[in-house]
Amino acid sequence: MAGDYRSLYRQSLEQPELFWGQVAKKLSWDEPYSQLVGDGAEPIPRWFVGGKLNACYNCVDRHVEAGHGDDAALLYESPVTGISRSVSFAELQGMTARAGGAMRALGVETGDRVLIYMPNSVEAVVAMLACARIGAIHSVVFGGFAPRELATRIDDATPKLVIAASCGIEGAKTLEYQPMLDEAYALASHRPDHTLFWQREQAPADLSGSDVSDWADVLANAEPVDCVPMAATDPLYILYTSGTTGQPKGIVRDTGGYLAALAWSMEGIYDCPPGATYWAASDVGWVVGHSYIVYAPLLNRNATVIFEGKPIGTPDAGIFWQLMAKHKVRSFFTAPTAIRAIKQVDPDGSLAGGHDLSELKAIFLAGERTDPDTLVWLENLLGKPVVDHWWQTETGWAICASPVGIEKMAIKAGSTSVPMPGWDIRCLDSDGEELGADENGAIAAKLPLPPGAAPTLWNADERYREAYLQRYEGYYQSGDAGYIDEDGHVFVMGRTDDVINVAGHRLSSAAMEEVLAAHPDVAECCVVGIADALKGQLPVGFVVLKSGVATDEAEIGAQLIADVRASIGPVAAFRQVYVMEKLPKTRSGKILRKTIRQLADGEEPQIPATIEDATVLDGYRERLAPA
Ligand code: COA
Ligand code: AMP
Repeated sequence: MAGDYRSLYRQSLEQPELFWGQVAKKLSWDEPYSQLVGDGAEPIPRWFVGGKLNACYNCVDRHVEAGHGDDAALLYESPVTGISRSVSFAELQGMTARAGGAMRALGVETGDRVLIYMPNSVEAVVAMLACARIGAIHSVVFGGFAPRELATRIDDATPKLVIAASCGIEGAKTLEYQPMLDEAYALASHRPDHTLFWQREQAPADLSGSDVSDWADVLANAEPVDCVPMAATDPLYILYTSGTTGQPKGIVRDTGGYLAALAWSMEGIYDCPPGATYWAASDVGWVVGHSYIVYAPLLNRNATVIFEGKPIGTPDAGIFWQLMAKHKVRSFFTAPTAIRAIKQVDPDGSLAGGHDLSELKAIFLAGERTDPDTLVWLENLLGKPVVDHWWQTETGWAICASPVGIEKMAIKAGSTSVPMPGWDIRCLDSDGEELGADENGAIAAKLPLPPGAAPTLWNADERYREAYLQRYEGYYQSGDAGYIDEDGHVFVMGRTDDVINVAGHRLSSAAMEEVLAAHPDVAECCVVGIADALKGQLPVGFVVLKSGVATDEAEIGAQLIADVRASIGPVAAFRQVYVMEKLPKTRSGKILRKTIRQLADGEEPQIPATIEDATVLDGYRERLAPA
């Protein structure tokens, strides 16, 4: 697709029919669309109105029909169990057809929700694609969340069926999933009709209940089913993400727009031709896993690596390089924190030596800002372009990136490069006025949004409008802040809200504050994300105790840490609590979280004129001063 980025980008904004019409030709349609973008009754108009297609057909069946059935589709690498397994497109077709049939036999119909609670595995990918095959809407929940978070998602999505693994394996730990699911069912108001367990020998589930079955048995007896043509505007999945309240947002992904955007990205951004191997070392529970472990590579007829392990310790910090060489990976995608973890353990990169990475064209990083040191270290180690690209669960694909497949442009360390097709990105001041080059502000996208971006939240149109569309008229508010330089490169520097990014995982400080506030000894609290050399940010709690409470900091800290782990999950990595005399606030009662964060990060904060009592900050300066 070599060409000129600027003219393609201009075309995507000025002649979207032409640009996206060309892209849509890459997909197999059961019925052509009649209108490129809908008329806008919903929060965000949907794409390819009137068209019908099936995501599983586009990702699997059509490749088999075109004679590529024997090509590898899934390359499962699980250093935590010692299993390596390859699944061809033809095998994947058979597996999804039977899994779809099994779900149908259990009463799952088009539009029903299926919750998937599984680690990175062939089974998870089959479950997702089987949902797409029969038009059921999947909602994958990341394994690191606690039962309460699972229960919230069960109540919001009201799944008819849950497909779970009997356990996950985190390094040396085996985590049983059935007790977590049972606890979630006890907490939730909604109860799914049936639960299927993929039985793993490390910790099999108890299948004695009448509404519990073995996934393998059910599949073995299932009748295969064909792909159902779905409206391009139908939801393919719901994926929950953290917002500014404790209630997660159910991001809805439509079918046609999403597939079109992904199809474009595989060539334009990732430069990965059909037949090559693609590897996103993420988790199927996150958006990167949905888009780039599952849908995009398979859509583009790439073999996709499914990695069940960690960048370090499974078995060592050379695992990425070893598997890249083994599978001749062409494009590799991970989170900056994974690279920082490798760099910490193997600063000279000696474990990369001896591996033939000649097929590798570029490395892509997202999930959090890539600090220039990490980017330069990786570039020097591999001698390949390292592309930091900016993403959100809401957008489903990159908002900004360096379009490696179109044009080799200079990459500026610290920047996420330039807007991708259809993304009209502006930096705005607090009045919504556009800022000039290099001026810091809120980053927003001018409406309409390109295909792939979430058209709404599950059962919550109004919440979508309030969260994204109300603040700046005519724009989608990203929640990120930064600046655009004179060459149009976008620098994403942090959030404008209280969302915290821990190891590329998006977490809500409000959800953690709810847990701290529920403790009987806590009068007031706040949770702030402070800088961490490995994970980017770590959440830290500040609590004020009720008068007369004599608990010491270590004791209450341990209780609160355990409470957050039990309520939200280990993934929150909540490990530090300070007991303070007071919280710094404005006169109107707003907690000055940013000021605390700046003090903790060693920055001298600009004290807001509206602060109620500036002397409160002295206590924070003292406690947070570097040792
Ligand atoms: N299921 C259950 N528990 C999980 C989990 C999962 N899928 N993922 C993480 N956890 C647990 C971990 O076991 C750990 O628990 P612990 O407190 O008992 O040790 C906790 O959640 C924190 O996990 P993590 O953030 O992964 O920290 P870590 O110290 O185990 O590993 C890194 C550090 C940098 C190696 C790891 O964070 C990493 O690989 N990050 C990449 C993130 C990524 O791919 N993000 C996707 C966005 S693109
Ligand atoms: P998630 O929805 O979990 O993918 O998290 C999205 C958020 O992660 C964004 O809103 C940003 O705050 C942050 N983020 C993701 N990618 C980048 C990046 N390349 N640079 C800076 N921040 C990023």
